[in-house]
Amino acid sequence: MSRPVVVAARPDETAVLARLHAGCFARPWDGDAVARLLAQPGAFALLGRLGGDRPVDAGFALARTAADEGEVLSVGVLPDYRRRGLARALIAGVAGRARADGADALLLEVDQRNHAAVALYRRLGSAEVARRPGYSRQAGGRPRDALVMRLALTRDPAESPGN
Ligand SMILES: CC(C)(COP(=O)(O)OP(=O)(O)OC[C@H]1O[C@@H](n2cnc3c(N)ncnc32)[C@H](O)[C@@H]1OP(=O)(O)O)[C@@H](O)C(=O)NCCC(=O)NCCS
Repeated sequence: MSRPVVVAARPDETAVLARLHAGCFARPWDGDAVARLLAQPGAFALLGRLGGDRPVDAGFALARTAADEGEVLSVGVLPDYRRRGLARALIAGVAGRARADGADALLLEVDQRNHAAVALYRRLGSAEVARRPGYSRQAGGRPRDALVMRLALTRDPAESPGN
């Protein structure tokens, strides 16, 4: 199986990012929303590819660095490409970029019932540092708590146990 490849998204790839977001979330962000987000100071986007000779854009991460903290704004992998280490590689890419920008920690906010994302962040070594009651990004439905998780950037998350 081919290894994931993570690259910086080019400024003209907002539509690709929006398509990937729509493939991963019930409430998609359109290209304009992605462009507005990337216009914020410290914001950046990564694309994750799988597929060897004919790589496919299969995942993305949107993030930003402010002062000494990085923040993952959104990360997703298309359903057909999950459990191949692509999200882990994307978070490692975000961590590397945030570290280069001067951050010493990465914050990740996640719906507490998003078991895949919580498992991913824990696997990378993140610790829960706060809980936001009533937070919800789900269409309809009852509000859910969010967990704020923090990953110290002392090592590469791609080298976390079990990788
Ligand atoms: C969460 C998500 C990004 C994970 O992507 P992925 O590429 O499948 O994750 P990886 O293959 O890198 O997984 C790395 C580790 O995370 C954990 N993990 C990932 N998905 C998991 C799941 N469904 N159940 C349990 N653990 C999971 C495992 O420990 C996994 O390691 P392993 O496969 O060796 O057991 C993906 O499921 C997704 O896009 N979900 C919808 C969007 C979303 O919820 N994004 C996060 C909130 S912003």
